[in-house]
Amino acid sequence: MSSHASVASLNASAPSEPPCLNTAVNLVSQTPLWSTLQQRAAGISTIKELFRADPQRFRRFSVSACGMLLDYSKQRIDAPVLSELLALARQQQLEARRDAMLAGAAINSTENRAVLHSVLRLPKGTRFLLDGADIAADVHAVLARMRSFSDAVRDGRWVGHTGKAIRTIVNIGIGGSDLGPQMACSALAPWAQPGLTLHFVSNVDGRHLADTLQQADPETTLFVVASKTFTTMETLTNAGTARAWMLGRGCPQASICQHFVALSTNVDAAQQFGIAPENVFPFWNWAGGRYSLWSAIGLSIMLYVGADRFEEMLAGAHAMDLHFAQAPLEQNLPVLMALVGVWNINFLGQQALSIAPYHQRLHRLPAYLQQLEMESNGKSVTRAGQRVDYATAPILFGEAGTNGQHAYFQCLHQGAAITPTDFIAVIEDDSGLPQHNRALLANCFAQSKAMAHGKDLDQVRAELPDAPAWLLPHRVFEGNRPSSTLLLDALTPRSLGGLIALYEHKVFVQSVIWDINAFDQWGVELGKSLALQLISLDPDAVNEDYDSSTRGLLQILQSK
Ligand code: F6P
Repeated sequence: MSSHASVASLNASAPSEPPCLNTAVNLVSQTPLWSTLQQRAAGISTIKELFRADPQRFRRFSVSACGMLLDYSKQRIDAPVLSELLALARQQQLEARRDAMLAGAAINSTENRAVLHSVLRLPKGTRFLLDGADIAADVHAVLARMRSFSDAVRDGRWVGHTGKAIRTIVNIGIGGSDLGPQMACSALAPWAQPGLTLHFVSNVDGRHLADTLQQADPETTLFVVASKTFTTMETLTNAGTARAWMLGRGCPQASICQHFVALSTNVDAAQQFGIAPENVFPFWNWAGGRYSLWSAIGLSIMLYVGADRFEEMLAGAHAMDLHFAQAPLEQNLPVLMALVGVWNINFLGQQALSIAPYHQRLHRLPAYLQQLEMESNGKSVTRAGQRVDYATAPILFGEAGTNGQHAYFQCLHQGAAITPTDFIAVIEDDSGLPQHNRALLANCFAQSKAMAHGKDLDQVRAELPDAPAWLLPHRVFEGNRPSSTLLLDALTPRSLGGLIALYEHKVFVQSVIWDINAFDQWGVELGKSLALQLISLDPDAVNEDYDSSTRGLLQILQSK
């Protein structure tokens, strides 16, 4: 069997989505396993005690795969808890639901769509049938078009309206059409094309675009308009203004096609906007916005680092797909990360998650994961529409280490609420400054040790024998604050692909435990439609449904 056969071969059997659980009774929180885990949580030892009781704890609670190690030994978890969490995953039909997703079942039930970001990274030549069509072939046809366009831009064959090569790329998009490409380009900066500057404009706040255009030359700038739906107000506003800027600065209408390309599932809308058909790179509704950086939405990444590097990123993600599909749950990185999260959120009552990448080039990872986790699992009804009575997505935030240490880590160490942390560290130093890398890694390991073990009153007293009693508690660290460490051999296109896919699958596993749909985002719709109603900012144009606060704010604007 070839290495990729098992993801695609699931497609052949195409199991349908298992039926939703009975709406009346079967919230996961009402199952005996949930109660057992609640009882376990009440009696679980502290992290310090767990280490003391088991000298082999690191070996027992760490797993390596796909060029990375997950150390979850500093989580407040023991063997019985782990085995019950795995039983919970099986009770929630994790394996069947995973296979259904990978096989192309329409698991995004509220939109009746398959969820197939894994197909975007299948190796060339692998077939994958959806509704009778080989969508893997479609994926590779678009990748080939992206490659030839990107090569032409990078080697100067694609020129602007005055015949000059492109020097500046402006990606216009928001949410999944911005965060993933932006995070990946920052992570892969060492592979960037010299002489090519890349900007990301997302906010409808005109300052974002205006500040960017100030740095751009209309003769040598390419706008990449990225929008899955091509209806997003922010993106269309920014793209329209960018087009007017080009036309107002000497670009003839007939040459505008040399400066604009679009990435969208809505090819008609992109063409209606005025983008030449040959400049539209399509993708498909079965790729969710926040799972789309592997598709045409990744064109800015490809332009920045080249098609070969982009394909290495896809290969790394595919390796993680295989691991997710094949590894036993006990050894499965996304499954273990997800279960640890469920344990912390639902049983230890720790609702937040801090992401601390100890690698400056991963500084956009927390923002990317914020959308991935919170837009995917920020839901409060089950697939069958029943209100849940348990917490779902974590409140996720983060900052690159060591910067975060000097900002919010105080709260992680001594705050009244406990916030678990994912530390992400990279062994290889490519800065050329090895002493910095040693300091970076030392800080990373020191933080997780401090969080886990803390410093008790006796230790503080021994250190400060003459201090008054009231001062001592200020110096105490309770410890018992859980963290995991992901240790990557190196940050490369391949390992980045694996890292992102790891979190994608983790999010899916948690959605299975919570029995929610991770792939829709109805929660952002209401605010969008209200913004359209308010667009005139005229208080007389809004009806009685509007509260006195909204009316009052509009009236103040009108009076200015
Ligand atoms: O915020 C809602 C959302 O629909 C995200 O899911 C999506 O990534 C973003 O808006 C941008 O959407 P589009 O790519 O369609 O412009």
